[in-house]
Amino acid sequence: MKAMNRQEEASVHGKTTTSGASCEFAAPGSLSPCTLVIFGASGDLTARKLIPAFYSLYQTDSLPEPFAVVGCSRTGLSHAEFRERLKQSIAREGKTDLSGWDGFAQKLFYQPVLYDSEQSCRELAVYLRDLDQGQKTGGNRIFYLAVPPTLYPVIARKIGEAGLSREGKDGNGWARIVVEKPFGQDLQTALDLDKVLHKSFREHQIFRIDHYLAKETVQNILMFRFANTIFEPLWNRNYIDYVGILAAEKLGVENRAGYYEQAGVLRDMFQNHMVQLLALTAMEAPSLFEDDRVRDEKAKVGRSVKPLARKTLMDNLILGQYKAGRIDGTEVAGYREEKGVNPNSITPTFAMMRMFVDNWRWQGVPFYLASGKRLARKESRILVQFKNVPHSMFREVLDEKITANRLVLGIYPEEEITLTFQTKVPGAKSCLRPVTMDFRYYQGFQGSPLDAYAKVLLDVILGDHMLFWRQDGVELSWSYLTPILQACETCANPEAQLHHYEAGSWGPAESMHWMRLIVDA
Ligand code: BG6
Repeated sequence: MKAMNRQEEASVHGKTTTSGASCEFAAPGSLSPCTLVIFGASGDLTARKLIPAFYSLYQTDSLPEPFAVVGCSRTGLSHAEFRERLKQSIAREGKTDLSGWDGFAQKLFYQPVLYDSEQSCRELAVYLRDLDQGQKTGGNRIFYLAVPPTLYPVIARKIGEAGLSREGKDGNGWARIVVEKPFGQDLQTALDLDKVLHKSFREHQIFRIDHYLAKETVQNILMFRFANTIFEPLWNRNYIDYVGILAAEKLGVENRAGYYEQAGVLRDMFQNHMVQLLALTAMEAPSLFEDDRVRDEKAKVGRSVKPLARKTLMDNLILGQYKAGRIDGTEVAGYREEKGVNPNSITPTFAMMRMFVDNWRWQGVPFYLASGKRLARKESRILVQFKNVPHSMFREVLDEKITANRLVLGIYPEEEITLTFQTKVPGAKSCLRPVTMDFRYYQGFQGSPLDAYAKVLLDVILGDHMLFWRQDGVELSWSYLTPILQACETCANPEAQLHHYEAGSWGPAESMHWMRLIVDA
């Protein structure tokens, strides 16, 4: 597709009409005091995401008061060592102002735990009870599993056995558990995981994180669709030609081969993030912006997605794996040469899928979903391509085809909304030109952006499930993908269906006819 040049662009200047105050997050006073217990506290996720997110909330006075963090892992550390480690790791990133660290560090504690030991978990229970009394955190606890997924069942069970998942009466002394994807490897393992979680916790206590849902521009999809009258009447098969959903990355597998070899792009990106973007784009308006009503509507999309028949699977799915190539002028290795990857690996690092939502609104409209590693640039967006005008009254005066309208909801790197439409070129001659109106998401906004992890952590404290997966959604997503994965993984020659693409390109040549529809290459 031809990219617009700057002169062809028009822009809108966003004025925020809501008063800043009404958009402010719930005052810390309305958040219950609590303790966050992090399992996997010596790991990467804790140092890179969780603690920086909490520290940023502390810096902006957005945490409940009182509040405490208890780091747990197998490593023996003192409180002081734990605090110092985290400080060093944040300092290494060099992005954070550490002037408030000493005050924040007083809220950090450490308790070593052997995850599969009953004794160790009972000691944790005693430690938490004493801490509650000392810190006055009211017995409210969040258990965050920042550990490899194989440990989810072990830890969830032990938390239950130690009596830590029990809740008090009247909403006091609540207990919540936070798990990150992957929620299983397929439908059966997702059901198994859920069974284990439900042995100790009830559904309202379980928070299944998908960090895409917490991205501002992803949250904005529902506001954009349902707080405006002008888009919704067009949001259907009568006006929309196709929808494109793209999550492209420049990064390769990095040091996650152990996980990625088992997952591949379908489990890593499609089962969760891509399916969520599809659901938000395709769902009907809920009667109220309330977590279960929103998730009910998303589940209906999950139920309407047309299963891909084995016979025609490869007409609707293109899988790829990156070869060596160049990213930003630097040579990079192919997937099979990466550390920890099987040199004959058939794990896909790219997928392009054509999906259909079998309902009245979307009948016949293809949804093209593409995601891959080591692509030309990092970009996530949802593109809504409208149909051509039904009748070209300009055909006598214009020789070129009229470009159809296009709406793009940019998620990364541009957090923006753009709408492309036709206008007359000024002057005596009758000529058309496509122009693009754009809205930058942070335009006219004075506050500081909220990191996705900070947002989900605040929602867990509030007990708000809106941005988390519900189990029926997880199962519907796996019900769709599991037969596809089985067909791909058990076919006679999986290598034959894997198309190799150069790192730094836009994916395999076989996908170009579709990629061209959704990427401005
Ligand atoms: C994660 C995947 O869930 O999302 C990663 O496991 C991927 O493989 C990442 O790189 C992409 O997230 P983002 O926010 O950078 O688009």
